[in-house]
Amino acid sequence: MFRALLLSQDDDGTLSHSITELDDADLPDRPVMVDVDYSTLNYKDGLAIVNGAPIVRTWPMVPGIDLAGTVASSDDPAWSTGDGVIVNGWDVGESYWGGMATKAAMDGGWLTPLPDAYTSHQAMALGTAGYTAMLCVLALEEHDIAPDSGPVVVTGAAGGVGSVAVAVLAKLGYEVIASSGRIETEGDYLRELGASELIHRDELSGPARPLGKTRFAGGIDTVGSHTLANIVSQTQPHGCVAACGLAQGMDFPSSVAPFILRAVTLAGVNCVYEPAERRAQAWNRLAQDLDTAKLDAMTDTIGLSDVPAAAAQILAGEIRGRVVIDVNR
Ligand SMILES: NC(=O)c1ccc[n+]([C@@H]2O[C@H](COP(=O)([O-])OP(=O)(O)OC[C@H]3O[C@@H](n4cnc5c(N)ncnc54)[C@H](OP(=O)(O)O)[C@@H]3O)[C@@H](O)[C@H]2O)c1
Repeated sequence: MFRALLLSQDDDGTLSHSITELDDADLPDRPVMVDVDYSTLNYKDGLAIVNGAPIVRTWPMVPGIDLAGTVASSDDPAWSTGDGVIVNGWDVGESYWGGMATKAAMDGGWLTPLPDAYTSHQAMALGTAGYTAMLCVLALEEHDIAPDSGPVVVTGAAGGVGSVAVAVLAKLGYEVIASSGRIETEGDYLRELGASELIHRDELSGPARPLGKTRFAGGIDTVGSHTLANIVSQTQPHGCVAACGLAQGMDFPSSVAPFILRAVTLAGVNCVYEPAERRAQAWNRLAQDLDTAKLDAMTDTIGLSDVPAAAAQILAGEIRGRVVIDVNR
């Protein structure tokens, strides 16, 4: 038997969730069984738990797009009993049962070795949010945005992706402008992570002009919509904005002017299906470029029964930094 948070949907579309004891035989038939230690709460998990579809595509569903644990048994020669592993993405927690359970059945190709630098708790403190933040940093570097290029803006800065992005960019020597709706309550937190300037997100959340006064060499945007449009329109020539999120909205009410008149690059980031080499690169860089003291400072740990309330909070923009889920608690 194992313990899981199980999401269900009735015939009339009503969603429900419960902490349930399930039989191992209930698990899907997949080659690698993992004893899960921790999962995490990402924005996408919040959408899955509160809204169900379109994130959840089969029912019932064990949510959790991330997990960290130990291989309990494996029919895949690439993995052995006792291996420390993590999973980020691959539609786990969306189409396939995910990490918010004490056991998970996984395909070998979804697994990444637990990075040497991290405990399973720290790996989940990073989770999809941290790994995506590093993919965004890599995108900026690959478009030649260096610390001496000028300031880099991070939106949704007090959230999970944003917090890791601020801390990593600051450690790398970038001048980080943190955009947040919570400057009054989280201003000190953002400065401690390394932000050198704070701007209220209202400055960026209204309709954008085709070309604004340039103020950023680049950006990491976790909120989309008008905010992304404003950042792009205020990015200097040959700058780059890495876009990964939609907390404000999925629309992008912009113009081509920044692209054709300033040669600005909009770099899309999708962590879900990145190949193993890219994942390894991102995790290695996190180990190198993020202080674990800052990671600890941005992380809270909750139990499985706390997850539904926390899911509503993350969608309301009320979660600071990262939330680890101790599935045994
Ligand atoms: N593309 C990918 O591969 C990928 C991977 C991971 C995450 N994501 C996306 O990235 C985004 C952030 O994820 P997360 O896990 O970091 O979520 P999160 O912890 O909830 O962070 C989102 C932050 O956005 C800000 N925000 C919330 N509502 C807003 C609004 N209406 N307008 C403007 N800003 C708002 C808040 O920060 P402040 O209070 O500081 O303003 C909030 O903390 C989500 O949209 C998620 O789906 C994408």
